[in-house]
Amino acid sequence: MKPFSESCIQNQEEICEVLQKLLTDKQHVLEIGSGTGQHAVYFAKKLPHITWQTSDQKQYHQGINQWLSDARLDNTVKPICLDVSKDTWPKQDCKKYIDVLFSANAIHIMAWNNVIDYFNYGTKLLKKDGLFLLYGPFNYNQNYTSQSNADFDQWLKMRDSNSGIRDFEALDQLANENHLVLIHDIEMAANNRILCWQKT
Ligand SMILES: C[S@@+](CC[C@H](N)C(=O)[O-])C[C@H]1O[C@@H](n2cnc3c(N)ncnc32)[C@H](O)[C@@H]1O
Repeated sequence: MKPFSESCIQNQEEICEVLQKLLTDKQHVLEIGSGTGQHAVYFAKKLPHITWQTSDQKQYHQGINQWLSDARLDNTVKPICLDVSKDTWPKQDCKKYIDVLFSANAIHIMAWNNVIDYFNYGTKLLKKDGLFLLYGPFNYNQNYTSQSNADFDQWLKMRDSNSGIRDFEALDQLANENHLVLIHDIEMAANNRILCWQKT
């Protein structure tokens, strides 16, 4: 059976509206942690000028492939095996065409070391002026933005002590160290945000 994520159904339309505004002059997205593949299908359909490259760890590929083959879009690309901390990043010649790195609800699942690797390796692939986009919950000045995010963080840490909602300031510092400049911080439903950095 095809994997299914209820949260994708809830957030896909709102995220897509933002992507439609931000990606007008972009062409090639590499999605990190495609999960079920639902977002890839939804976004690629609504953004036909974009080539949407999916990726995730191997165990997710079967599900992603099912979603992609049922949707039959000609602007989605089968998942590549990509763990942000392993030597599985596409080769440097992708730098010629990857102009967006996108991921939803992934960096609070990863350990902080993985997040560092994500920024370090990911930004090396991005073209100049390319966008580095993260969707999810974030803390500001080490404070939760809602009780529901505090509860969610507690749940994440019980499941895996290396997981957790990340601090915006720490991410922004990591971004700056990797030649990224914040250009948007967009409020989204359910106490989520979209952070958008641009490569200088
Ligand atoms: C909560 S799921 C989100 C999936 C999908 N983006 C969504 O919004 O439904 C977290 C995703 O992060 C990915 N992930 C976790 N650690 C990772 C790592 N080290 N490298 C790449 N992806 C990772 C998981 O494989 C999974 O697809």
